[in-house]
Amino acid sequence: MLINLLKNYYLMKANKISIVILVAAAIVFYSCALRKSEPIVGKTFTAKNMQVQHGQELYMKHCQKCHPGGEGGLGPALNSTPAPGFLKKLQVRAGLGTMPSFNHQEIAKEDLKDIGKYLKALKHF
Ligand code: HEC
Repeated sequence: MLINLLKNYYLMKANKISIVILVAAAIVFYSCALRKSEPIVGKTFTAKNMQVQHGQELYMKHCQKCHPGGEGGLGPALNSTPAPGFLKKLQVRAGLGTMPSFNHQEIAKEDLKDIGKYLKALKHF
């Protein structure tokens, strides 16, 4: 009788231990199963029309080095600036501080318009 009780006691204890082991194993399994190589930024920008795409190409050539991907670098972020379009264009033509100015030979009027369209698209991206 007493031996049976003792047996039951140890069986119950063993059950608890096995549950703990099972839970621990499940945690290890699931944490290993998680993908850890996901890129931090999931979305990639796709131009919705030719003008935006042209603007993107020009942006990569002239602006990307200081405003990487529209974010802040040497210059401030452009994808979140509240500045209206005409002011951005003025900034490109006039320059300010470290930012150089770009004349009509470097960036034609139509090209600057496309850069503006790209910046607008980037803002809503
Ligand atoms: C050599 C680096 C450099 C390049 C190239 C450059 N910028 Fe800038 N940009 C800056 C810096 C620095 C500022 C901040 C100027 C200041 O306020 O003193 C700035 C500011 C701006 C601003 C004003 C943002 C705000 O919210 O005040 C706009 C708009 C802008 N740049 C657009 C452009 C565009 C478009 C191009 C490409 C045609 C370009 N920049 C190329 C460095 C650069």
